[in-house]
Amino acid sequence: MRTTIHDIQSYKERGERFSVLTAYDYATARVIDECGLPVILVGDSLANVMHGEDSTVSVTMDDMLHHTRVVARGAANALVVGDMPFMSFQTSPQDALRNAARFLQEARAQAVKLEGGEVMAETIRTLVERGIPVMGHIGFTPQSEFQIGRRYQGRRTADDARRVLRDAQAVQDAGAFSVVLELVPEQLSHMITERLVIPTIGIGSGPHCDGQVQVVSDMLGIVTDHIGRHVKRYADIADVMRSAVTAYAQEVRDGVFPTADHTRPLSQDILNDL
Ligand code: KIV
Repeated sequence: MRTTIHDIQSYKERGERFSVLTAYDYATARVIDECGLPVILVGDSLANVMHGEDSTVSVTMDDMLHHTRVVARGAANALVVGDMPFMSFQTSPQDALRNAARFLQEARAQAVKLEGGEVMAETIRTLVERGIPVMGHIGFTPQSEFQIGRRYQGRRTADDARRVLRDAQAVQDAGAFSVVLELVPEQLSHMITERLVIPTIGIGSGPHCDGQVQVVSDMLGIVTDHIGRHVKRYADIADVMRSAVTAYAQEVRDGVFPTADHTRPLSQDILNDL
């Protein structure tokens, strides 16, 4: 049975921590789904880990719909959340509504995520009131990187921290079913998690959030450049791939692969005929 936003809420009510991973393709989504993770996020981080870009602002609606569609095909049970790309929702609540609907109708997501706190409250409310579940995203918001810098948010002054608290409250009041806290200092994300009734999902924000999210290519060690301190590497898949690719190339060179076992022979009758 597919996870619903109500299941996510009940994790918080039961005090049960949950994990979220990003995915961008069918095969990875299948593996994550088989492992029973309740939520798969098709993050616009695909710009970095799939497209090799430095920033997420290059991602388009077409990119996101394409990747969300294939992830949704691989996710039989997880709630699939599509990340709204730069300028697909900032221009107006109506644009946001039109684009969010495309994630559900065309890409088969069950929810969307969008970046921004107080400033996005009206937009979140517009979507939620029309039946589109929204995951908020506050703290460091990568689409605003050129404006705010790639750094922890709410850390420099008390006013700074109060702004993050207000953002969290605004996202909840607007009707979001959960909120990502990215690069929020540990004590502040603890405070937010205690104050909110909706689940918080942390990345680089300490252990007190209700859930955690990681970029799958970072934690699996597929992409090994620009890794933040918030990443824990659970595997070195790039190294496994390098060994396999090198062994394959060597075996082809040496005539070890392929063997007769890797093909099908012609029958003796046809051979005689030839
Ligand atoms: O795009 C993404 O992968 C994200 C997560 C890091 C939360 O927004």
